[in-house]
Parts: sequence; C-alpha cells; structure tokens
Amino acid sequence: MMFQYVKLLLYSIFLSCKVYAIPLEDSGDALNLFGLEGLSENYAIGATFIEGDIAVPLKAGRAVYIRSPKWPNGIVPFDIHASYTNDQKSVIRGAMSEIMKSTNNCIRFVERNSSTSVWLRIIPSRGCWSYMGRAKSSGPQDLSLQPTGCVYHQVALHELMHALGFIHEQTRPDRNQYVRIQTENIQSGNEHNFNIFPSTSVSTLNRPYDYGSIMHYRSDAFSSNGLPTIKVITDTDKDWESKMGRGMNLSDQDVEKLKAYYSCS
Ligand SMILES: *[C@@H]1O[C@H](CO)[C@@H](O)[C@H](O)[C@H]1NC(C)=O
Ligand SMILES: *[C@@H]1O[C@H](CO)[C@@H](O)[C@H](O)[C@H]1NC(C)=O
Ligand SMILES: [Zn+2]
Repeated sequence: MMFQYVKLLLYSIFLSCKVYAIPLEDSGDALNLFGLEGLSENYAIGATFIEGDIAVPLKAGRAVYIRSPKWPNGIVPFDIHASYTNDQKSVIRGAMSEIMKSTNNCIRFVERNSSTSVWLRIIPSRGCWSYMGRAKSSGPQDLSLQPTGCVYHQVALHELMHALGFIHEQTRPDRNQYVRIQTENIQSGNEHNFNIFPSTSVSTLNRPYDYGSIMHYRSDAFSSNGLPTIKVITDTDKDWESKMGRGMNLSDQDVEKLKAYYSCS
C-alpha cells in the first residue's frame, strides 16, 4: 500500500471500531441529514454507510474502512455527470470554488482527462454521500448528489469535505465536553451515528471544537420525535444549538483545518 496514511486527519482515518450498515430501501420523502426533503435513502453498489452519508467499500461481505489518504498535492480531478442540468452543475462547481478560494487554491478541483488515474465522479445516484479521502487506487470514485434533495451548495460542500478526508465534527474524541447526545430521542437503530472516534483513528488537528463546522450534524439529526439528539453543554454556546448543521458555508475553522491537513502555506 502506497497510501500515505492520514495521521493527522481532521477527524478521519481508519476506524477500528465497528461499521454498521443502514437499510438500503427507499425511505420515501424522509428528511435527510441536512433536513432537506425529496430524496431516497442513500444507496451505493458495493458499499455500505456509516454515520448516514459516509460510504465504506464492502470487501468479502464485510465493511472495511480504509484509512483515507489525501489527494496528492491537494489536486482533486473530477467529472460531473452529464445528466445534471446546467444550474445543478453550477451549484456543484460553486461548492468546489468555495473550497479552492478559501484555501487560496492550495486545494484544487480540476477537470479530469484521459490520463487521470483516480478522480471524483459526481453522480446523481440515490442520496447524498461520499467516500472518505482519496479512497481508490485507480478509476472513478463516486460522490452522490441526488438531484432532488442533495444539489445544494452546503450539501455539496459537506460531501466534498468527506471526499477530502474529513469526518463529522461531533464524532471527534473530545466531543462530550461540548455536546451531550440525547440517546432517548434517537431513532432506534441509529444510535451508531453518534459514535465517537478514538484519537488513534482521527485527529482534531489541535483545533477547537467547532459548532459552526459544515461537518457538524444538526441538533435534530436522526431524531425520532423532533426533540434534539444533540444538546450544547456550555451555556455560553447555547445559541449554537439552533444553528449547528445549518450553515451554508465553510466555517473559519473548516478552512483552517483544510489548510493544516493539506499543509497549505
Ligand atoms: C456561501 O454560500 C452561498 C450559497 O449558499 C454562496 O452563494 C456564497 O458564495 C458562499 N460564500 C462564500 C464566501 O463562498
Ligand atoms: C490531465 O489531468 C491531470 C490531473 O488528473 C493533470 O495533472 C494533467 O495536467 C492533465 N493533462 C492535460 C493534457 O490537461
Ligand atoms: Zn456527512
């Protein structure tokens, strides 16, 4: 394996913990992680999902989590499926452009060509999901943005961040100091979406906990009854409860973490 292991990754890397599948049947017009309607349950051939929208390749009938390598030199070749409308393509390109601009082009999305070996293939599949980091050693790596429900600036940003190697903010090892998980409000069977990753698997890059991260869940993620599944612990941060997971852009810390992870100057 020539993968450069993501030692520092902002919350990513390989999970030695258990990996769970979510049911793959359609869930009708269920709200997704982003509180957006009109999409199907995430679905990918040959993969399962952890934490709702992170695809994990299936191997030998089991899900294994490959340590997520970075994209060399911060260059992410991509193509966007031809069946998206021009407006949808602009939304997707707009999210790429925010990442490029905010990192001063240290991270760059470039159109793939016939000699590109690995690229991000943005497809209108079922659901909004991505693999973590540069997950393949050759060929296309899928990132799904279902036309109804996923083609929004903030959703594209979030999935692109997974593809760059970042996991959900509220799974970082120190999260219990900042948020309290209200287990009694979680849809039964979805408790695993609130796992914490150990510091041996992920890194905070020594950045403070960020309620405003584009990678943070909403406070009502996977709620069975509309009540919060994630509460803010500290009184001074209470305002975040209604705001977290609802941002439209990268937070300042998201940008700092991207730059740190990709060794940008
Ligand atoms: C923030 O997101 C909006 C779309 O929701 C986009 O139009 C705007 O350009 C973004 N801001 C930055 C600084 O990229
Ligand atoms: C093809 O794409 C790669 C990135 O995958 C890039 O480095 C290379 O310069 C491109 N080649 C041409 C001829 O544009
Ligand atoms: Zn996600």
